[in-house]
Amino acid sequence: MDRVRLGIIGTGNIAQLNVAGYLEHPQCDVVAVCDSRHEVGQAFADRYGIPRVYTDIADLLADGEIDAVEVLTPTMLHKQHVLAAIAAGKHVSCQKPIANTVADGLEMTEAARAAGVLFRVSECCFGYPPLVKAKELIASGAIGHPTMCRIKTVVANTDTEFQNNLDPSGYVWRFNAQSPGGHLFDDMIHKYGAALWLFDQDVNSVQAIVRQGPAFFEAPMAAIWEYERNSLLGMMEVTYAPRMNIRSSFYGADEFFEIQGTDGFIWVTRCTGEMLDLAPVIIYHPDGTTTSYGNLDADWLTGFKNMSKAFVDALLEERADCEMSGELAVKALQLCFAVYQASTERRPVDPASISQSVSPPWWPPDLSTYFTDMEEYGTR
Ligand SMILES: NC(=O)c1ccc[n+]([C@@H]2O[C@H](COP(=O)([O-])OP(=O)(O)OC[C@H]3O[C@@H](n4cnc5c(N)ncnc54)[C@H](O)[C@@H]3O)[C@@H](O)[C@H]2O)c1
Repeated sequence: MDRVRLGIIGTGNIAQLNVAGYLEHPQCDVVAVCDSRHEVGQAFADRYGIPRVYTDIADLLADGEIDAVEVLTPTMLHKQHVLAAIAAGKHVSCQKPIANTVADGLEMTEAARAAGVLFRVSECCFGYPPLVKAKELIASGAIGHPTMCRIKTVVANTDTEFQNNLDPSGYVWRFNAQSPGGHLFDDMIHKYGAALWLFDQDVNSVQAIVRQGPAFFEAPMAAIWEYERNSLLGMMEVTYAPRMNIRSSFYGADEFFEIQGTDGFIWVTRCTGEMLDLAPVIIYHPDGTTTSYGNLDADWLTGFKNMSKAFVDALLEERADCEMSGELAVKALQLCFAVYQASTERRPVDPASISQSVSPPWWPPDLSTYFTDMEEYGTR
């Protein structure tokens, strides 16, 4: 293949970030979009100069000019849309989370393997230069043997053009029984994936406390886990601070990674947000000196662009794999569900023991009390 002709399925809120890397790639043509809301698909196509607009996925998949698709529909539709695309012989990139259940994710992965098409989950963290740098540093032994991975996420307010222009309808399916969980499913799946990918290590035991927050928030949350390698542990914190403003160009969230090794630290000081006036990656060396990687591209959009470009490159090079693999996406999903189960049952849970899905006991949330819950959360 010397060019990739791509179709985009679902042109909602996140599509603007995913399409950028495809449009920039010199050997990719975005030839069609499909959205069940015609006016949304048409407006997107007009904005980016994409020639064809469909409202039925079957019509897009019957388009013989299309080699590959990017699936950007609500998560509960991923299985249906990915399986249909695979059956039509298309290569598939699908947004995170891979699916609503582990069994569905495995079925999608197996279907692609059997059909001989490339299937990967587009995980923007894996293309975000500061996290890519951290992974390289870990692999090169720059901090010796990693012993602790700490990942912190805070969700709060922001006043960005991106956030203000999001279509509120994109939140409806995230807040009800069409999803198995809330924020820890929809957003933290990125960080569960990163926790596995950074070390190329599986997690085999999880303990957690998850509190219910307003609407789909599940905070505060604290989790600890054990990796395959006995001397490496992980911990995660999620907090929600609705009266705090986050400096950001995108969503109102900020992340901080601290990776401790036998011979030093790596700090990744940002992902979505831009809270700290620090280099995006800093390493503390055994001799007490530090190196700051201040010139890294720390724009959150770059992670999306790099992942779109990586999919095109994998197709051009006819590779059988591209990050993130279906198998790894399923492991991230199992880690997510293990956190819910460990919190509910107050016992360690092996993520590999989860074959379907797990929801928090309060799920789906009662949205009729959303505004009073927000008020109460801010004052308690
Ligand atoms: N990487 C990230 O940071 C990130 C951020 C946001 C969302 N996402 C993921 O991307 C996916 C989409 O999220 P979103 O926020 O854009 O949601 P959204 O609801 O804003 O967009 C989904 C789009 O799919 C369309 N659609 C629904 N059913 C369809 C069908 N049967 N055929 C064709 N189109 C259909 C909708 O009309 C809508 O325009 C989700 O899986 C979500 O988890 C990833």
